Amino acid sequence: MEDLVTGIRRLKSERNAIILAHNYTSKEVQEIADLTGDSLGLSIEASKTDADIIVFCGVTFMGETAKILSPNKKVLLPNPEAGCDMAMTCNAHDLSEMKKKHPDATVVGYVNTTASTKTEMDVCCTSGNAMNVVKQIDNSKILFVPDKNLGSYVAKHNPDKEIILWDGCCPIHDSLTVESIQNLIAKYPDAVKMAHPECKDDILKMMDFVGSTEAILKEVKKSDRKQFIIVTEVGMKHRLDRECPDKEFIFPEEALCKPMKYITLQSIHDCLLNLTREVILDSDVIEKAYAPVKRMTEIL
Ligand code: 13P
Ligand code: SF4
Repeated sequence: MEDLVTGIRRLKSERNAIILAHNYTSKEVQEIADLTGDSLGLSIEASKTDADIIVFCGVTFMGETAKILSPNKKVLLPNPEAGCDMAMTCNAHDLSEMKKKHPDATVVGYVNTTASTKTEMDVCCTSGNAMNVVKQIDNSKILFVPDKNLGSYVAKHNPDKEIILWDGCCPIHDSLTVESIQNLIAKYPDAVKMAHPECKDDILKMMDFVGSTEAILKEVKKSDRKQFIIVTEVGMKHRLDRECPDKEFIFPEEALCKPMKYITLQSIHDCLLNLTREVILDSDVIEKAYAPVKRMTEIL
């Protein structure tokens, strides 16, 4: 009998599909993917692939973003139950109300939001390009939603801009404590310290480097050091171990995004076999969200 990995490879080629996986998915998912990366890299790939089907192994907003960028392709989410808690903190209605209070602000929205929330944004960004997106905006007043931690980090590096923050965050990164990270540093005093900007400022201040998951990988590759404390979701360890086998990575083990682990080989196989779990969005939503999302893929 054909095993799951062989079955996925066969179906993928029969259906002219591409498998994209976020850096937080599990090891076996990352290993079957054609491309593993951060939200920015995967969005760029989704906008230019010539595959007929995109299987997006990640949380729902990632599949929706791929659909906005490639509306004529079939985008499949192996597990549509895999949601991002941060995306739930900012809906389109509340954002439109907030915009009324700041009519002169440019709305910069993190990609970790639903498709309908994106229809209310001027520009979308990821953690990989938030800083450059904000720098390129020709307005000193910015409404940044929904991640207050990423927003504060960007604000700190753009003192010439007034950045109004939304009260949202990633519960996984935001709940990491200074004490827990200090314990890792005490145990591994020679390690280089790197974190994702979704962490709170008091943790970011302790770091040698702050960046998206892909930026962290690039920085690790450039470094001649051997040991790294990586303050982000534990799935990233597979990617680092695979691409930098001569280096050691220490993670806070409580940094676990459960929805990212809902994606399994079985769920990838089943959605490719039955062509189910397709991302369906209103054409109106796609039309309105396209411009801010497309702009996001053009600013590196
Ligand atoms: P990246 O921008 O590094 O892909 O991170 C996305 C994310 O969900 C972080 O929690
Ligand atoms: Fe969302 Fe946080 Fe999970 Fe990233 S780690 S997908 S922000 S819940």
